[in-house]
Amino acid sequence: MKFPCRLDKFISHITELPRTKVKAGIKKRNAVVNGVQITKFDHQVQATDHVEWQGEHIAYLGLRYYMLNKPQDYICANNDDMHATVFDLLDEPNLKNFHVAGRLDIDTTGLVLITNDGDWSHKVTSPKQQKFKTYLVETLEPISDEMLSQLEEGVMLHGEKHATLPAKAERLATYSLRLSICEGKYHQVKRMLAAVGNKVVELHRENIGGIQLDDSLSSGEYRLLSEQEVQLIG
Ligand code: URA
Repeated sequence: MKFPCRLDKFISHITELPRTKVKAGIKKRNAVVNGVQITKFDHQVQATDHVEWQGEHIAYLGLRYYMLNKPQDYICANNDDMHATVFDLLDEPNLKNFHVAGRLDIDTTGLVLITNDGDWSHKVTSPKQQKFKTYLVETLEPISDEMLSQLEEGVMLHGEKHATLPAKAERLATYSLRLSICEGKYHQVKRMLAAVGNKVVELHRENIGGIQLDDSLSSGEYRLLSEQEVQLIG
């Protein structure tokens, strides 16, 4: 958001109310700037102004980036009628314009990035940007050398026209591997392991584009990214 900014635009952006509703509210004296009731829609708001809407302080907090250690049973969506969402774990004001940059399945744990910066999250998820996502994978069957080389070269997933892009696969133990991929197709890791005749029993994401899940974050905890971590995505 650029400042100075029209009052109706400012309120609409933060509250996500349509501009017509905001204008009606401003007319009804619902907007107060620096303690003064304002009825002009195009009143210019500065970044430092204290704005109240319907008696509550509303503030633009700028672009923000969080990392969360996602537990099982939470879904990566803004709202859901059936399940708890990752947003239920964030105790922060004004999360209306936020989204998850690269979802995880309900039963997958680990690194989730949450932001209100759409350009940045596009860079996280677009395969063209080659931002590798690294997963720790526990499998049902032993991991053979053949499986590792197939995963690295690319496999055909059921229902897809093209093979997966080159990946990095490293065996950690008989039933576990570290897999890095730069795409984010639906259930991609599970489908890749199925394509080589194995099955995922546990999946955990530890890194996205060089941003490593902070091991001081317990399951369900989160923190802001540092400036350096934000810059890793570009
Ligand atoms: N691949 C999957 O299959 N599931 C995830 O949650 C992430 C990647």
